[in-house]
Amino acid sequence: MSYFNKFINDPTGFIKRAVYKLVLGPLKYGEEGGYDADKYWNDRFRKYGYNLQGAGDESKTVEENEAMYIEAGSAFEKILAKEEIEINNIKVLEIGVGSAFYTQILNDKGVKNYTGLDIADVLFEEHMKKFPEFNFIKRDITCDQVEGKYDLITMIDVSQHIVKEEKLVSALNTIKGCMSDKGIFLIAPLTTVSKKHHFYVHSWSPEFVKNQFEGFEFIDFDGYRGDKGLIIRAS
Ligand SMILES: C[S@@+](CC[C@H](N)C(=O)[O-])C[C@H]1O[C@@H](n2cnc3c(N)ncnc32)[C@H](O)[C@@H]1O
Repeated sequence: MSYFNKFINDPTGFIKRAVYKLVLGPLKYGEEGGYDADKYWNDRFRKYGYNLQGAGDESKTVEENEAMYIEAGSAFEKILAKEEIEINNIKVLEIGVGSAFYTQILNDKGVKNYTGLDIADVLFEEHMKKFPEFNFIKRDITCDQVEGKYDLITMIDVSQHIVKEEKLVSALNTIKGCMSDKGIFLIAPLTTVSKKHHFYVHSWSPEFVKNQFEGFEFIDFDGYRGDKGLIIRAS
């Protein structure tokens, strides 16, 4: 939906969100050239819990977010099927668990060996009750070490919330180091042009990501929430 239509639909909400994104949010969470992601995301999940507005789009209703997630979930499943990614006997690392929407899909598809990583851990206790066999770790993927090698690493709706170039480069290097010999890394959404939107959103292009994975195999895909995505294979 265009900014104009968003304004026409809900002028008060539109202005409130603009003031938050441009003034109040940066004042509360802003840091030099970026933001305090730990504080921002923990506050957000504290506020929303499992309501999909937490990991999704705050400007949309719960129902709109649910519809958007159903579509995104089906796109995710189609990509796994198309690339013939057999997930039940492999080690999976999910970066940016959020409110565990994709964790649920992975669980339903029979994943046994799962690690979920997030900078925000306020929902971990609940996640552990829902998925007692799964492992959840609090890490900042842009600067913390991550142990182990994984056959499938997913990073969905996370990269656009890493707003500093050097931080994303560092995150991608860490991910590269965590891929097993036949490892697959799935990242989405990506957009044609890299661009900063506001204090906690910066979209990145597939080319930017590919540049950090020299020698790897790439499979581009479209249609993830209307944007692009990328599968990177170690072999
Ligand atoms: C928009 S939410 C998406 C959550 C989930 N992947 C989904 O699609 O529902 C972004 C997630 O990335 C996490 N995140 C943001 N920056 C991070 C970082 N530097 N390291 C680890 N996780 C981060 C947030 O805490 C949040 O859970």
